[in-house]
Amino acid sequence: MQELQDRFGRRFHYLRLSITDACNFKCQYCLPNGYKPDGKPRFLNLDEIRRVLSAFAQVGTRKVRITGGEPTLRKDFESVLELVAATPGVERIATTTNGYRLAEHAEAWHRAGLRQVNVSVDSLDPKRFAQITGDSRFHQVMQGIDRALEVGYDKVKMNVVLLKELNGDQLPLFLDYLRDHPVDLRFIELMETGLHHDYFQQHHLSGAVIQAQLLKEGWRLDPRGADDGPALNYSHPDYAGRIGLIMPYSKDFCASCNRLRVSAIGKLHLCLFTEAGIELRDLLGADAQQEELVARLHAALGQKEATHYLQEGNSGATPHLASIGG
Ligand code: GTP
Ligand code: 5AD
Ligand code: SF4
Repeated sequence: MQELQDRFGRRFHYLRLSITDACNFKCQYCLPNGYKPDGKPRFLNLDEIRRVLSAFAQVGTRKVRITGGEPTLRKDFESVLELVAATPGVERIATTTNGYRLAEHAEAWHRAGLRQVNVSVDSLDPKRFAQITGDSRFHQVMQGIDRALEVGYDKVKMNVVLLKELNGDQLPLFLDYLRDHPVDLRFIELMETGLHHDYFQQHHLSGAVIQAQLLKEGWRLDPRGADDGPALNYSHPDYAGRIGLIMPYSKDFCASCNRLRVSAIGKLHLCLFTEAGIELRDLLGADAQQEELVARLHAALGQKEATHYLQEGNSGATPHLASIGG
């Protein structure tokens, strides 16, 4: 098997596969008006998903994260998990969700093969949570996290997009929570997407601010694991949980890039911020096309750039991250 590698020697064992653009939350920084596709769904069907997975497995994919939009809105979400679990070579199955169905389904999804779950929780204050996400189900989401911990998921992560005027001052609340909850909480710097220039100007806060506070309180940087992506992880002996910082505007962030993305309409995105995406769907109609699909993946990797263009002070052309799975 020839594994995927780019011109800069980076290897890609991690696929983020989006299965829908739709979402039932209205996060201010992503889909402030929500998004419900009208008409016939145009998202990859289970056969197409199986073929994507099989081709990526052939070129070395060992971890698959199912993303969206909100992936659990799909009625066949559990069947998608089963397909991933049945793909030879894939060892880790993860998803990123807003968590609204987690309390009810954590056990069934675990049975289907899911082992890691990342849940967006931008504030631990229910009112603030509702203000940011446009949704009042804070307690339901937190119950989902508790349930995932009970069921025994290998990893439960909480994603917090750092927002200057909305949660930038809430580190103490998050720290309280981490004392006795063994979750990985990640602060993600707001990225400037195509539709959110003004919002970015108003709310972007550098992760360095949080980093400085953590160091002052005795948190220490963990050694990097071989398969770690661009997040920096910190831990502290008095806390059950850990903290990760995702700082895409920092120097060398992309040097540890280890992931590729396929959108819900079957386009390969070499980076969160590549503009058009490379068509794969014309090769997803029949099993006989697998060889050609693998060849296209290898050819595509030659086009992956060293880093995303936001670092040069540009704004992203990607309209919002729900269009590509974050
Ligand atoms: P792990 O698989 O747990 O390492 O997760 P992750 O952090 O990659 O996944 P998650 O879906 O929770 O991602 C959180 C967010 O971090 C993404 O949606 C992006 O906003 C950001 N992020 C993750 N990977 C990258 C990346 O490669 N580049 C950039 N710029 N941001 C990323
Ligand atoms: N900047 C940073 N993070 C974002 N997310 C969505 N949009 C943005 C953005 N513009 C986060 C979500 C979720 C993850 C998939 O990406 O909150 O946790
Ligand atoms: Fe990889 Fe692009 Fe993310 Fe950089 S921004 S780490 S190149 S996906």
